[in-house]
Amino acid sequence: MPAKFPFEPWRVAEVGFVPANLRENESLFALGNGFIGMRGNLEEGCPTGAETIEGTFLNGVFDSEPITYGEAGFGYAKNHETICNVMDAKGVALRADGEALDLGTSRIDGHCRALELREGLLRRSFTWTTPSGAVLAVTCQRLVSLTRLQLAAVQVRVQCVSGAVELELGSGIRPAVIAEGDPNDPRNAAGKDRRLEVGRRLAEGGLTAMEQRTKATGFSIVCAVSHRLDAAGVSAAAKNGVTWGAKRNLSAGEEVVLEKAIAYAAARRDEADVWEQTIDLAVRAPDFGVLAAEQRAYLDDFWAGAGMSIQGDDALLQGLRFNLFHLLQAAGRDGRRNIAAKGLTGEGYEGHYFWDTEAYILPVFLHTEPEVAKKLLEYRHAILPAARERARAMGHDKGALFAWRTIDGEECSAYFPAGSAQYHIDGDIAKAVWDYWYVTRDLDFLAACGAEILVETARLWLDVGFYSDAKGGSFVINEVTGPDEYNVMVDNNRYTNRVAAENLRHAAEALALLRAQRPADYDRLCRAVDCDPREAEDWLRAAERMYFADAEDGIYPQDDGFLRRKPWPLDAIPAEKRPLLMHYHPLHIYRHQVSKQADLILEITLFGEHYTPEEKRRNFAFYDGVTTHDSSLSMAIFSILACEIGEIGTAYDYFMASARLDLDDIHRNTKDGLHMANMAGAWNCIVKGFGGMRYRDDTLSFAPVCPAQWEGYAFSVRFRGRTIEVRVTRDGAEYRLIAGEPIEIYDHGELVTIR
Ligand code: BGC
Repeated sequence: MPAKFPFEPWRVAEVGFVPANLRENESLFALGNGFIGMRGNLEEGCPTGAETIEGTFLNGVFDSEPITYGEAGFGYAKNHETICNVMDAKGVALRADGEALDLGTSRIDGHCRALELREGLLRRSFTWTTPSGAVLAVTCQRLVSLTRLQLAAVQVRVQCVSGAVELELGSGIRPAVIAEGDPNDPRNAAGKDRRLEVGRRLAEGGLTAMEQRTKATGFSIVCAVSHRLDAAGVSAAAKNGVTWGAKRNLSAGEEVVLEKAIAYAAARRDEADVWEQTIDLAVRAPDFGVLAAEQRAYLDDFWAGAGMSIQGDDALLQGLRFNLFHLLQAAGRDGRRNIAAKGLTGEGYEGHYFWDTEAYILPVFLHTEPEVAKKLLEYRHAILPAARERARAMGHDKGALFAWRTIDGEECSAYFPAGSAQYHIDGDIAKAVWDYWYVTRDLDFLAACGAEILVETARLWLDVGFYSDAKGGSFVINEVTGPDEYNVMVDNNRYTNRVAAENLRHAAEALALLRAQRPADYDRLCRAVDCDPREAEDWLRAAERMYFADAEDGIYPQDDGFLRRKPWPLDAIPAEKRPLLMHYHPLHIYRHQVSKQADLILEITLFGEHYTPEEKRRNFAFYDGVTTHDSSLSMAIFSILACEIGEIGTAYDYFMASARLDLDDIHRNTKDGLHMANMAGAWNCIVKGFGGMRYRDDTLSFAPVCPAQWEGYAFSVRFRGRTIEVRVTRDGAEYRLIAGEPIEIYDHGELVTIR
């Protein structure tokens, strides 16, 4: 493993400065709080000779543009939505002896930047020898507050170690310099005109503020910065932005400290103006030290519940904590925002939300921060009207079809075979709702949001599928795309049929539950969605008769055609031709028996009760041989199933590749943002893979194994008001109740009580 960062359990530090790594490190060192996201751009800007990708994002704040099709068709998605790269306010320019600080040209020693995972800070330090020979020690700290979602803060301290200088400090709010998307990379393509219009501006003493407006979506975005320095600064409105600046003479032993409190807000046309409120927030923001203390306290609490440790492998531990930290930073927490595929760390996938949230990330929050899981599901409830509209556009008279990729609910997938056709997203969301109910028993949520989602998604399946004579009267679902984007528009994708069947059952169960326990809510829901109790019988019948193909020579087909496609031995594909989607026409790929990512293996992993251990082994071996893992969502799932079938070495290898995928830039596109679903996948590998956690008989079941490479590992999970710590060594597992009432759980199939 390349040791680009020293293996430290609680920090990720870049020691020295390598210009070629700048863009990638800007993603790795990004900070966020589910609303504001700031890439790890250097305070003073891009060094001469290096390339940067600037970025400040507000989750859910986007502009849109019509999609231009060469040949459009009925019901095609109409608009691109692209997260806005909003005005930048984190910068601080330094100039001494007339020289602007520039890592490319200035004399810099001891440069170090570190993401501090316990403190939630980005910290940077170096010394700068100015042209006159004065030596300045510079320390920068930056945070995006996890407790005050509209606030971020920057602190820059310059100490004069020797000599004397006149130091100029500059700061401003300016429109972001927007990097071009790559039109040839479907993972990174973006709308064309992404500039925002500049609106109101304010420059008054230490205070600066600026407004930007989106062109089509009508957002007003406001940023206000209050500067605190022990010398008066001067602010001014400048072309396209606002600036602030101050000068200080420093001689040996003296220092200057600049603090910036940065507030962001956004409102749509029909919402109240946020100009004054944002300025007020910046003015009243506490000092950096106070914000840093709050941040630490918040994270202490988070790590107490989300704790993980691995004895004997610091590199992995660093990777896992780094992942969890970024997931926390990415998650929308107000019920109006979700988690973008790249979090708030870059513009890859345009800030869109996918199934990644429900299938990969939500389980992490469900067992670490269930409140966050609830907020993410509330977001899905909030976009139900758009999902209903989408279902109608796709020809369904009833039900709701969630957009494959979206920000505000509208389908944005311009390539429907690998986008809109992925109907399984309905089943993924429904499963997440049901899992949330299982883990929390939060009947209020089920009554207010969950049941409605289940009903509307169940209705969709009934409309999509039908009872087919050709399949002996089974309920079939044709012409959809499963999770595997290299096999599109298929019949009876096993994963889709499975999540659909579960969705149909759970909708019926949710209604029965509400009817028995919350009759008033039940009546309200039935009226609101015009639900007839007989509908539930139809759902149950379809679930019961859902088509699942028999195995052929022990192999379950991923879909009706998969086993009949042309074989394409993976070892015949040279490394430079991967990922396939970048080197072959889609039709060439679709014709072959090759998978981009775990699909059937995901189905077996999540619904293992339908398979014998031998079936799991055979199917693992087969699908392992036809999967390229061109999606970062793939390897974690293979790792989990490998654990279950006792192939711990294979599980370990897949896990290793997943756990540090971004830190080691394994997919070579970390510069465009971090792979959130994969980051969550690594958590799932520990808890569900090596820890073997499953839901069984109304409780949790564990079957921990310890890879030979580790002395042991531990993790905590929350479940129905308890926090349970699982400690595993090569000699076995121990369970400890950290909080809550005693509970019975399964350990390798045996019921044990933990107290
Ligand atoms: C994967 C999808 C995923 C998307 C966003 C694609 O490469 O195939 O499963 O939802 O990336 O992460």
